[in-house]
Amino acid sequence: MLPPTVPLEPLFVDQARELEEFDSILRSLAAGVRRHVALLGLRRIGKTMLLDEVRHCHATSAIAYLALDEVVSSPEDFARALMAETMRAAGIATGRAFDVGAGGKAFRETATALHPDLNSGIDHLLSLMSEGSSYGTLLAAVMRFPGEVSRVLDLPLLVMLDEFQEIVRLKAFPKTDNLMGAVRAALDRRGKVAFVVAGSRVSVMRNLIADSESPLFTRFEQLELGPFASDGTNELVTRIWSETGADYEPDASVRLHELTGGWPFYAHAVASRAGQIARASTGKVASDTVDLAFQHEIIGRVANIGQNCRYLLESALRTDANGMRNTLEAVLRQVARWQPISRASVERRLRRHHAHTRIHGAINALVDADFLRETGGLLEMVDPVFALWLVVEPERRDPEAVLSNSKALRRMLDWYEAQHAQDRQETGLLFERRVENLARQFRGQTVAGTLFGVEYDVRLPVVSSVGKARVDDPHGQYGDRPDTYEVDIVITGERPEDYWAIEAKHRRGAITQAMVERFLKNAYAISKAKHLTFGRLWVVAPRGIRPDALDLARREGVLVSRLRQLERIEGLLATDVAPMPPSDGAQ
Ligand SMILES: Nc1ncnc2c1ncn2[C@@H]1O[C@H](COP(=O)(O)OP(=O)(O)OP(=O)(O)O)[C@@H](O)[C@H]1O
Ligand SMILES: [Mg+2]
Repeated sequence: MLPPTVPLEPLFVDQARELEEFDSILRSLAAGVRRHVALLGLRRIGKTMLLDEVRHCHATSAIAYLALDEVVSSPEDFARALMAETMRAAGIATGRAFDVGAGGKAFRETATALHPDLNSGIDHLLSLMSEGSSYGTLLAAVMRFPGEVSRVLDLPLLVMLDEFQEIVRLKAFPKTDNLMGAVRAALDRRGKVAFVVAGSRVSVMRNLIADSESPLFTRFEQLELGPFASDGTNELVTRIWSETGADYEPDASVRLHELTGGWPFYAHAVASRAGQIARASTGKVASDTVDLAFQHEIIGRVANIGQNCRYLLESALRTDANGMRNTLEAVLRQVARWQPISRASVERRLRRHHAHTRIHGAINALVDADFLRETGGLLEMVDPVFALWLVVEPERRDPEAVLSNSKALRRMLDWYEAQHAQDRQETGLLFERRVENLARQFRGQTVAGTLFGVEYDVRLPVVSSVGKARVDDPHGQYGDRPDTYEVDIVITGERPEDYWAIEAKHRRGAITQAMVERFLKNAYAISKAKHLTFGRLWVVAPRGIRPDALDLARREGVLVSRLRQLERIEGLLATDVAPMPPSDGAQ
C-alpha cells in the first residue's frame, strides 16, 4: 500500500526582499505617494502566499484583496466584491470589523458607519447595478470606489487584485469595451490608492499591462517572483523537518533543492513527504530519503505533486481555443520528452496525426500560457517537474511496482538530472526580463562600442515601449516555408534608429551560428510584417558566443554583448543621470 497524501502545513519563509518592497510601498502610500506594482510569477510560485503575508504583517493597514478568478463571472459580482472588500479593509484600518455582506442594505449601513459622505457613491453604484443598462459605466464607477473611500476617509488604501489577467473575462459583457480604460483611470487618479496586480499567466499579464496603444506598463513597477535560491529552500525544508520532529542530514536539503529547482510548492511537497518517510523508517532524512520522496510525489497516485501536475495539464489543455486539445497534449508530451527540441522536429514527430497549422497554433498557445519557452528556435518546458511527470506516464500506471524497483527509480532520476543539470537559478524568462528592464533605461545615452563588441560608440535608443514581437506566417510569405517568427525583446521609439531587436538568450551553451541566423530571420520577418526597419540588432550572450557565430554577427552588423559587458551596461545606466559623452573612459 502506498502511504497517503501528506497534508501540507502552511508556513512562510524567505521573500525578505519582496516583503521589504511592500513595506516601502505602504510607507510611501502613507506619505501620499502611490506606487503600483505588478507581481509576476508562474503558477504555484508563491504570489498569493506573499500577498497573504503582506496582509498579515500589516494587519491594521487598509488592504483590500480580491482573487479575480472568483469574482468576475459578472460585472455585478465584481462590483459587489470590490465594494465589500474595500469597505471591509477601510473598516479594519479605522478600528471597526465589518461583516459587510452582499446586499444593498448592508452596503448602505456599512458606508454610513464609515462616513456618511460615502452614501451617495454607494447609491449610485447600487442603482447602476439594478438598472443593468451599461456595464461599462458600472465598471468605471466601481473602479473609482476605492479612490472615493480613500479620499473621504483620508486613508491610504492598497488594493490587491490577484489573478488580474482574469479581468478580461468581464469583456464578455455588453458595453465593456473600455474596461482597460476604466482600470487606467483608477490607476491615474490622484490620491492614496495603490494597486497590486498579480498573475500567473505571466505573458498574458505582460501583454495586458504593456498593451502598446495605451501603455499601462509604465504605471506598474514589476516585481518578479522566481524559485527559491538554495538558502530559501533550505529554510523551508529545515523548518518542515524540525517541526515534524524528523532529524536530517545537511546534504538532504541540497539534494532537495537540486531536484525541485527551488520551486516552492515542489520543495514543500517533497520535504513533507520526506518527513513522512523518515518518521516511518529511520527517523532521519538523508539524501536518499529525498530521492524516494520525490519519486513518490511524482509517481504515486495520492501525492501533492501528482495532483498539481494533473491540474497543470488540465490548465494547459484549457488554453484550447479551436478544439486543439489533442494537439496541445501531444506537443506537451513531445517537448517534455525531447527538450530542447526545435519546432520543426516537433512537427516531424506529430505530422501523421496533426496538421501543420495546428501544431504551430498549439505551440504558440502553450508559449503564451507559459508552459513552453522558446529560445533560439528551441522549445523547452518551463516547469522541470511537470515535464518529468508527463514523461513518466507509463511508470505512473503501476506506481507500486516501480516504487519497489530501485533500478527503475535510478533510471528515472538519472534521466531527469541529465536533463536539468544546469540553468536552475536563473530561468530564461528571468534573464529576458533583466535585459528588458535594462532596455527600459535606454534614453539616448552614448556608450563605448566595446560593450557591444564593436569599435564605434553606440548611441542607445530613446525608448517608448519594450515588448515581445511575434509573427505567424502560415503561407511562407517571409521564408521558404510556413513558420512563426519571434523576437524576445523589441524596442520601439520615435525615430527609426530607435527601433532595436534584441535576442536575450540564457541557454546551456554558447550562441551558435544557427542561432544568429535564426535571429536574423526572425528580425527580418518581423520588420517586414510590421513595416518597420530595425536600427540595430543586439544579441545578449551570457554564456558566450562561438567564433563562427561571432563572425556572422560582425558581418551582419549585429551587436553582441556577453555577461560581463551586460553587467557593465547595467552599472553605467544605474548611475547614469545625464547622457554620457562619447568614449567616456568606459572601455
Ligand atoms: N514563501 C513561501 N514559503 C513557504 N512555502 C511557499 C512560499 N511560497 C510558496 N510556497 C509553497 O508554494 C505553494 C503555492 O503558493 P501560492 O499559492 O502562493 O502560489 P501562487 O503563485 O499564488 O500560485 P497560483 O498561480 O496557483 O495562484 C504554497 O502552497 C506553498 O506550498
Ligand atoms: Mg495564487
